[in-house]
Amino acid sequence: MFRLDGKTALVTGGGRGIGRGIVLALAQAGADVAIADIDQGSADSTAKEVEACGRQVLVTRLDVTDPESVREAVAAAIGRFGGIDILVNNAGVVQDHIGAAVTEADFDRCYAVNVKGIWNLSAALRPHFRERGGGKIVNIASIAGRRGDNGLTPYSASKAAAISLTQSLAFELGRHDVNVNAVCPGLLWTPMWEKLEGIFRGDASPQVVGERAAFDAYIQANCPLRREQTPEDIGHAVVFLVSEAARNITGQALNVDGGIQMY
Ligand SMILES: NC(=O)c1ccc[n+]([C@@H]2O[C@H](COP(=O)([O-])OP(=O)(O)OC[C@H]3O[C@@H](n4cnc5c(N)ncnc54)[C@H](O)[C@@H]3O)[C@@H](O)[C@H]2O)c1
Repeated sequence: MFRLDGKTALVTGGGRGIGRGIVLALAQAGADVAIADIDQGSADSTAKEVEACGRQVLVTRLDVTDPESVREAVAAAIGRFGGIDILVNNAGVVQDHIGAAVTEADFDRCYAVNVKGIWNLSAALRPHFRERGGGKIVNIASIAGRRGDNGLTPYSASKAAAISLTQSLAFELGRHDVNVNAVCPGLLWTPMWEKLEGIFRGDASPQVVGERAAFDAYIQANCPLRREQTPEDIGHAVVFLVSEAARNITGQALNVDGGIQMY
């Protein structure tokens, strides 16, 4: 029910962090995987781990904000595997400034990668899924998209848009038997959080979420299960959503956050 043998997947931002966890979970479930990332070095290293699972892998350089780059990556993956069954839109960025220091560039970057990136990939694969008679899309949003967040305005708004986009695409593609769902990760100590550490350091607000000690304290205070989430946790949720077990689930956003956010 949960196996993906014979399936092929394309994962954006699959080189490191959550994306790497998703790539490895898909490979362990039996899928061949195209790792499409703007950073080819990390993608190459994750590719070796996929090969160690006995699965086929393709590394393709991709900038999700550039439609030409998206077309090339999708064509390369289809050329390599003969078709794509699963698209995981995981690539995402967080803003460079917080609170009142947020710039227009922060908004533009968050929207270009976190929102339009999803649209670009989904649009590029839409005809392919239609021809194949079905497909699966999973968008990696965030619990930050469930409600406005103090300081993380562009990021939070972009993730709310990612959830909305998931619902619209589920409506539009349902007739072609394409399931479109989102996963909303909670708090994971990935390179994205290391970047936040730099942003929040020196900030006097109580929301100093970027430091490891504060990260741990926040989890103890706010997470019912009192533990951080891992890339493997997110990967397992993705495997479920693209498996036969979830064939009648679409347009949903699944929180994988230890209970931090319950809606
Ligand atoms: N870390 C968390 O706590 C957390 C929580 C909720 C949601 N998320 C979301 O999960 C996803 C992965 O986050 P992460 O923590 O692993 O971050 P990360 O920064 O560690 O990894 C992001 C990956 O995306 C790639 N990428 C960035 N811009 C790209 C672009 N324009 N085109 C192609 N690839 C690009 C990077 O090279 C990298 O491999 C993001 O969408 C993020 O918003 C993270």
